[in-house]
Amino acid sequence: MVVILNNLDDEPIHRICGEHGRRPDELIEILHTVQKEHGYLTDAALRTIAEALNISRAEIHGVVSFYHDFYRAQPARHILKICRAEACQAVGSDDLAAYAERKFATTMGDKGAGGQIGIEAVYCLGNCALGPAMLIDGKLHGRVTPERLDILAETDLSSGEARNG
Ligand code: FES
Repeated sequence: MVVILNNLDDEPIHRICGEHGRRPDELIEILHTVQKEHGYLTDAALRTIAEALNISRAEIHGVVSFYHDFYRAQPARHILKICRAEACQAVGSDDLAAYAERKFATTMGDKGAGGQIGIEAVYCLGNCALGPAMLIDGKLHGRVTPERLDILAETDLSSGEARNG
């Protein structure tokens, strides 16, 4: 008996793999492209990529779990990434993170599971002189106080635009 694991839904993923020459060294770029087009990385998508690149699913899972920018479930509409590294901690990022958790009624590390707001920790955004630093949907902000976060929430999170990074 023949078991068909993949179906026509896999065609876009095979196309993306083909655009990258089905090269295993292009895995990260392929994962980013699949996630960009589909929102997150499903088990089926990872299985298809493994097949197309002729690599093991364990290898792919290792890469996906190592990089925090990959999502295994539908992420929140907006993603806040707050720097928790030393320079930002020294100027208040812990307080900012605690405030953000209260304000958005979520916890650090909760990617939002398809809700409105997800908050994640990052460790240095290269903006140390202007800490606390954070990204809102991929856009860098410096010297973010709780008061400034309130303002940014009004401008950046109420625009209706979805997450882009
Ligand atoms: S420590 Fe926060 S941006 Fe470098």
